[in-house]
Amino acid sequence: MRVSVWKGSAQGSFREFEVPRHPSQTILDVVTYIQRTLDPTLAYRFACRVGMCGSCAMTVNGVPRWTCRTHVDRVLKNDALSIAPLKNLPVIRDLVTDMREFFDKWARAKGNFSGKATKADPFAVVPPASVERKAVDAGIECIGCAVCYSACDVVAWNPDYLGPAALNRAWTLLKDQRDVQGLERLRAVAGDAGCHACHSHMSCTERCPKHISPTAAIAGLKREVARAAIKGAL
Ligand code: SF4
Ligand code: SF4
Ligand code: FES
Repeated sequence: MRVSVWKGSAQGSFREFEVPRHPSQTILDVVTYIQRTLDPTLAYRFACRVGMCGSCAMTVNGVPRWTCRTHVDRVLKNDALSIAPLKNLPVIRDLVTDMREFFDKWARAKGNFSGKATKADPFAVVPPASVERKAVDAGIECIGCAVCYSACDVVAWNPDYLGPAALNRAWTLLKDQRDVQGLERLRAVAGDAGCHACHSHMSCTERCPKHISPTAAIAGLKREVARAAIKGAL
């Protein structure tokens, strides 16, 4: 197959390679073949190769995807592939993006757990069937891959927007009954760059490889922010 791969930084260009096909070949296998056999200067990022670490996401034929779990058979068009870095993030080199602003936004959305129990307390019992627990479980398997962030048009229009992953994280913590930072978190996501900037396009939800719905999480945040505002708590 013919594979066009982005080389360089934001001012780079695509370079073409011929790569042999194999059964069950993934996009990450293709990139690794190119780096090990055809162009040792090619920069890319991966760690686990099994869909756990979230580090291998790239733009494949124009669509953000986790590359270690994307089979070539599913995405090959006319025996050709194009592989580029994720959109909406600065490119360091080739297929490697700078993830700092993505994770800085998790911090801005208060994406850290903050409990009051000590190790002397018994384990918290959170019933799996409770509404809150179900809301947390629906969003907790996020691997921080930034596929949703790269797919979101609002991030492209407004680089200050916290984005789907950080807001989904805020939602899972807001619904976590052990966390005590709820009000601060609502304040953090209530501003112009927070949940109300989301246009509910659903691109994040369509693309998330873990089948999480940041759109639903953001809708939940909008409701909770409105409730808190009506009560005068914000
Ligand atoms: S639903 Fe909201 S966060 Fe998700 S892609 Fe659309 S605008 Fe972005
Ligand atoms: S919500 Fe999904 S697409 Fe977004 S960072 Fe988490 S796992 Fe990746
Ligand atoms: S290499 Fe870890 S998710 Fe792809």
